[in-house]
Amino acid sequence: MPVHDEDLTILRALLEAGEGFVSGSDLAGRLGVSRVSVRARMQRLEETGFTLEAVRNKGYRLAGQPGLLHAALLEACLIRLGVSVDLHVHEEIDSTNSEAERLLSAGASTPLVVLASRQSAGRGRMGRRWHSEDAENLYLSFAFRPQLPPARMTKFTLWMGASLCDFLDEKHAVHARVKWPNDLLCDGRKLAGMLTEARIDADFTRDLIFGLGLNVNADPTTLPEEVREIATSVRAVSGQPRPINPFAAEVIACLMNAYEQFVDGSFEKFFKQRWIDYDCLNGQQVTVRGHAGELTGTVAGVNDDGSLALIRADGTRMALRAGDVSLGTGSAPST
Ligand code: BTN
Repeated sequence: MPVHDEDLTILRALLEAGEGFVSGSDLAGRLGVSRVSVRARMQRLEETGFTLEAVRNKGYRLAGQPGLLHAALLEACLIRLGVSVDLHVHEEIDSTNSEAERLLSAGASTPLVVLASRQSAGRGRMGRRWHSEDAENLYLSFAFRPQLPPARMTKFTLWMGASLCDFLDEKHAVHARVKWPNDLLCDGRKLAGMLTEARIDADFTRDLIFGLGLNVNADPTTLPEEVREIATSVRAVSGQPRPINPFAAEVIACLMNAYEQFVDGSFEKFFKQRWIDYDCLNGQQVTVRGHAGELTGTVAGVNDDGSLALIRADGTRMALRAGDVSLGTGSAPST
C-alpha cells in the first residue's frame, strides 16, 4: 500500500482540525494545487473508506475513517504522535514476522514496522498457527538491529508485553496481564500473543523481530472453534470498538518507546515494578510443559534474567527459561 504524499498532507490537516473544518483553499495552498484538484483527491480518499463532510464556505471535515488499515492515515496518526518509523502496510501477507525477516535480509533500514490486515500463514510460538483472518485485529512486526549481546535480551519480550499492558491500562482502561513468556490475558482469556525472533551473529543480536497479534475489534464468538472459548478482544472487554488506525499508531508509539528504553538500558529502573503490576502468574499454581517434560509448582515472579521462578512442592526453586504454562496442576490446554 504506497502512501500518496497528497493524501498524507490532507489527512494531517484534517486530523489537526479534529472536529473542525479545513478550508479548500488552505488545502490547495498546502498541496500547491487548485481547489478542483483538492476536490478530486477528496473523492479518491472517500473511495478508500473515509467520510468527508464538505460544507460551503467552511471546507472539509473528517466525519468517518476506514475500518481497515490505511497506510496514509496510519502514517498521519504516527506523525501526530511524533513517531518516526518506516511503515510497510499490506492488505494480506503470509506473516508479518516473515516479511520483516525478508526486509532485514534485503538490507532495509530500521526501525521498520510491517502491518497486515490479514495473514495467510500467521505464526505463533512453538510452531503454532496464529489465526489471522479477522481484519479488525492487529497483526504487526517490528524489525530492529539492536547490536546487543544476547544476554541483554532475556527480558525483552516481557518488557514489551508489560509496557503494552501499561498502555492499555492507562489509555484504554483495558486491564491486561502478561502470562509468561508471551501472552497477554484479560479476564483469563487471550488478548494478544507476542513472537520475538532474533538472529545472532558473533555474539551480537544482529536482527530482532518483535511480532504482535492483538485482538482489537473482533467479536470472539466469530473466531474459529478452537480459539473461541479462550480468546477475547479490546472491544469485547471494554464494550467499545477502537478506530484501527489511530489505535495501531498508539500501539506502535508505545512499543517504539519501550524498545528505546530497552536498548538504552533505562527500562531497568521500571522493570521490577512494571512486572509486579502486570504479571498474571505470580503466586499461582501452574503446570509448565517444556523440554524437561511437565513440571508443577507455584510461581514466584521472574528472575533477573527473565526466567520463570517456580517453587516446587518439595520447596526446590527452579528457573525456567522456556515452556508453556497453564494454570493449575491438570493437563488443561494453555491459553
Ligand atoms: C503466540 O501467542 O504464540 C504468539 C503469536 C504471535 C502472532 C503475531 S501476529 C503478527 C506476527 N506475525 C506472525 O506470523 N506472528 C506474529
